[in-house]
Order: sequence, then C-alpha cells, then structure tokens
Amino acid sequence: MVFVTRQTHFNAAHRLVNSNKSDQWNQETYGKCNYANWHGHNYVLEVTLAGIPDPDSGYVIDLGRLKKIIEQYILEPCDHRNLNMDVPFLSDIIPTSENLVHAFYDQLKKPVEAEASQGSVLYSVKLFETERNSAEYCPYRTL
Ligand code: NI
Repeated sequence: MVFVTRQTHFNAAHRLVNSNKSDQWNQETYGKCNYANWHGHNYVLEVTLAGIPDPDSGYVIDLGRLKKIIEQYILEPCDHRNLNMDVPFLSDIIPTSENLVHAFYDQLKKPVEAEASQGSVLYSVKLFETERNSAEYCPYRTL
C-alpha cells in the first residue's frame, strides 16, 4: 500500500456560531471564532490517497490531475470566500475544521477515485487552521 499526499493552501473567512444556542453559549464555546464580523484563516489542506501504483504509469494518481481536482472541487468554491455564506456544499454546517474535513472528503471522493489507479481510495483529508491546530477525516481508521 502506497500513500500519496498533495498539500495546498487557501484563505477564507468564517464565523463559528450555532444559531440554536444563546449568544452566551456561542461566546463561551467559540471565543474569538464567534466574533460577529468574521475573521480569516490561512488554511493548509492535505489530501491523501492510498493504493497500489498502476503497473503502467507507476502512479497511484497523477499528482497534476489531483491538483486540478482539488482546485475545482475545493479551492475554486472556498478560496477567498466566506465559508458560512458563499459555499453551497457548506451551507448546512458550522465551519469548524472538524466539519470542513468531512465535507471536503465527501466532495473529493468520487472525482479523486475516478482518476486514481485500480482499487485506490481517498484515504484522508487533513486541514490545518493554524500551524498548531488541525483536524483529519479518515473513514478507514478506527480507534
Ligand atoms: Ni476561526
């Protein structure tokens, strides 16, 4: 099994708020990320496939194709946008890193696996909100 990762960057604004909860609950839960007038993050996104390299090409996936898929399905809709307001596939979630990695995984799974070698899977999507804070969605790992 070979793991192949592409790292990309984007910038976006968001606000963490649960509209079913009180202002006090939101402030206590989300702190600065609940400020009313938005704030931005410099996100780093890591997309990892797992598979057996194709015997002809030696690739699990052509990384140029993976780059294009991430641009089309994640960067184009999300880069320099407001994640709460501008991105149709995020419209029903609170844009925490935890929720974003799951949504990004669901967006990428089909197009990525269509381009990958036979039997390869989209293994994980990891998102750094800051250098120190990240979340990763990986349906293949269990506790
Ligand atoms: Ni934030």
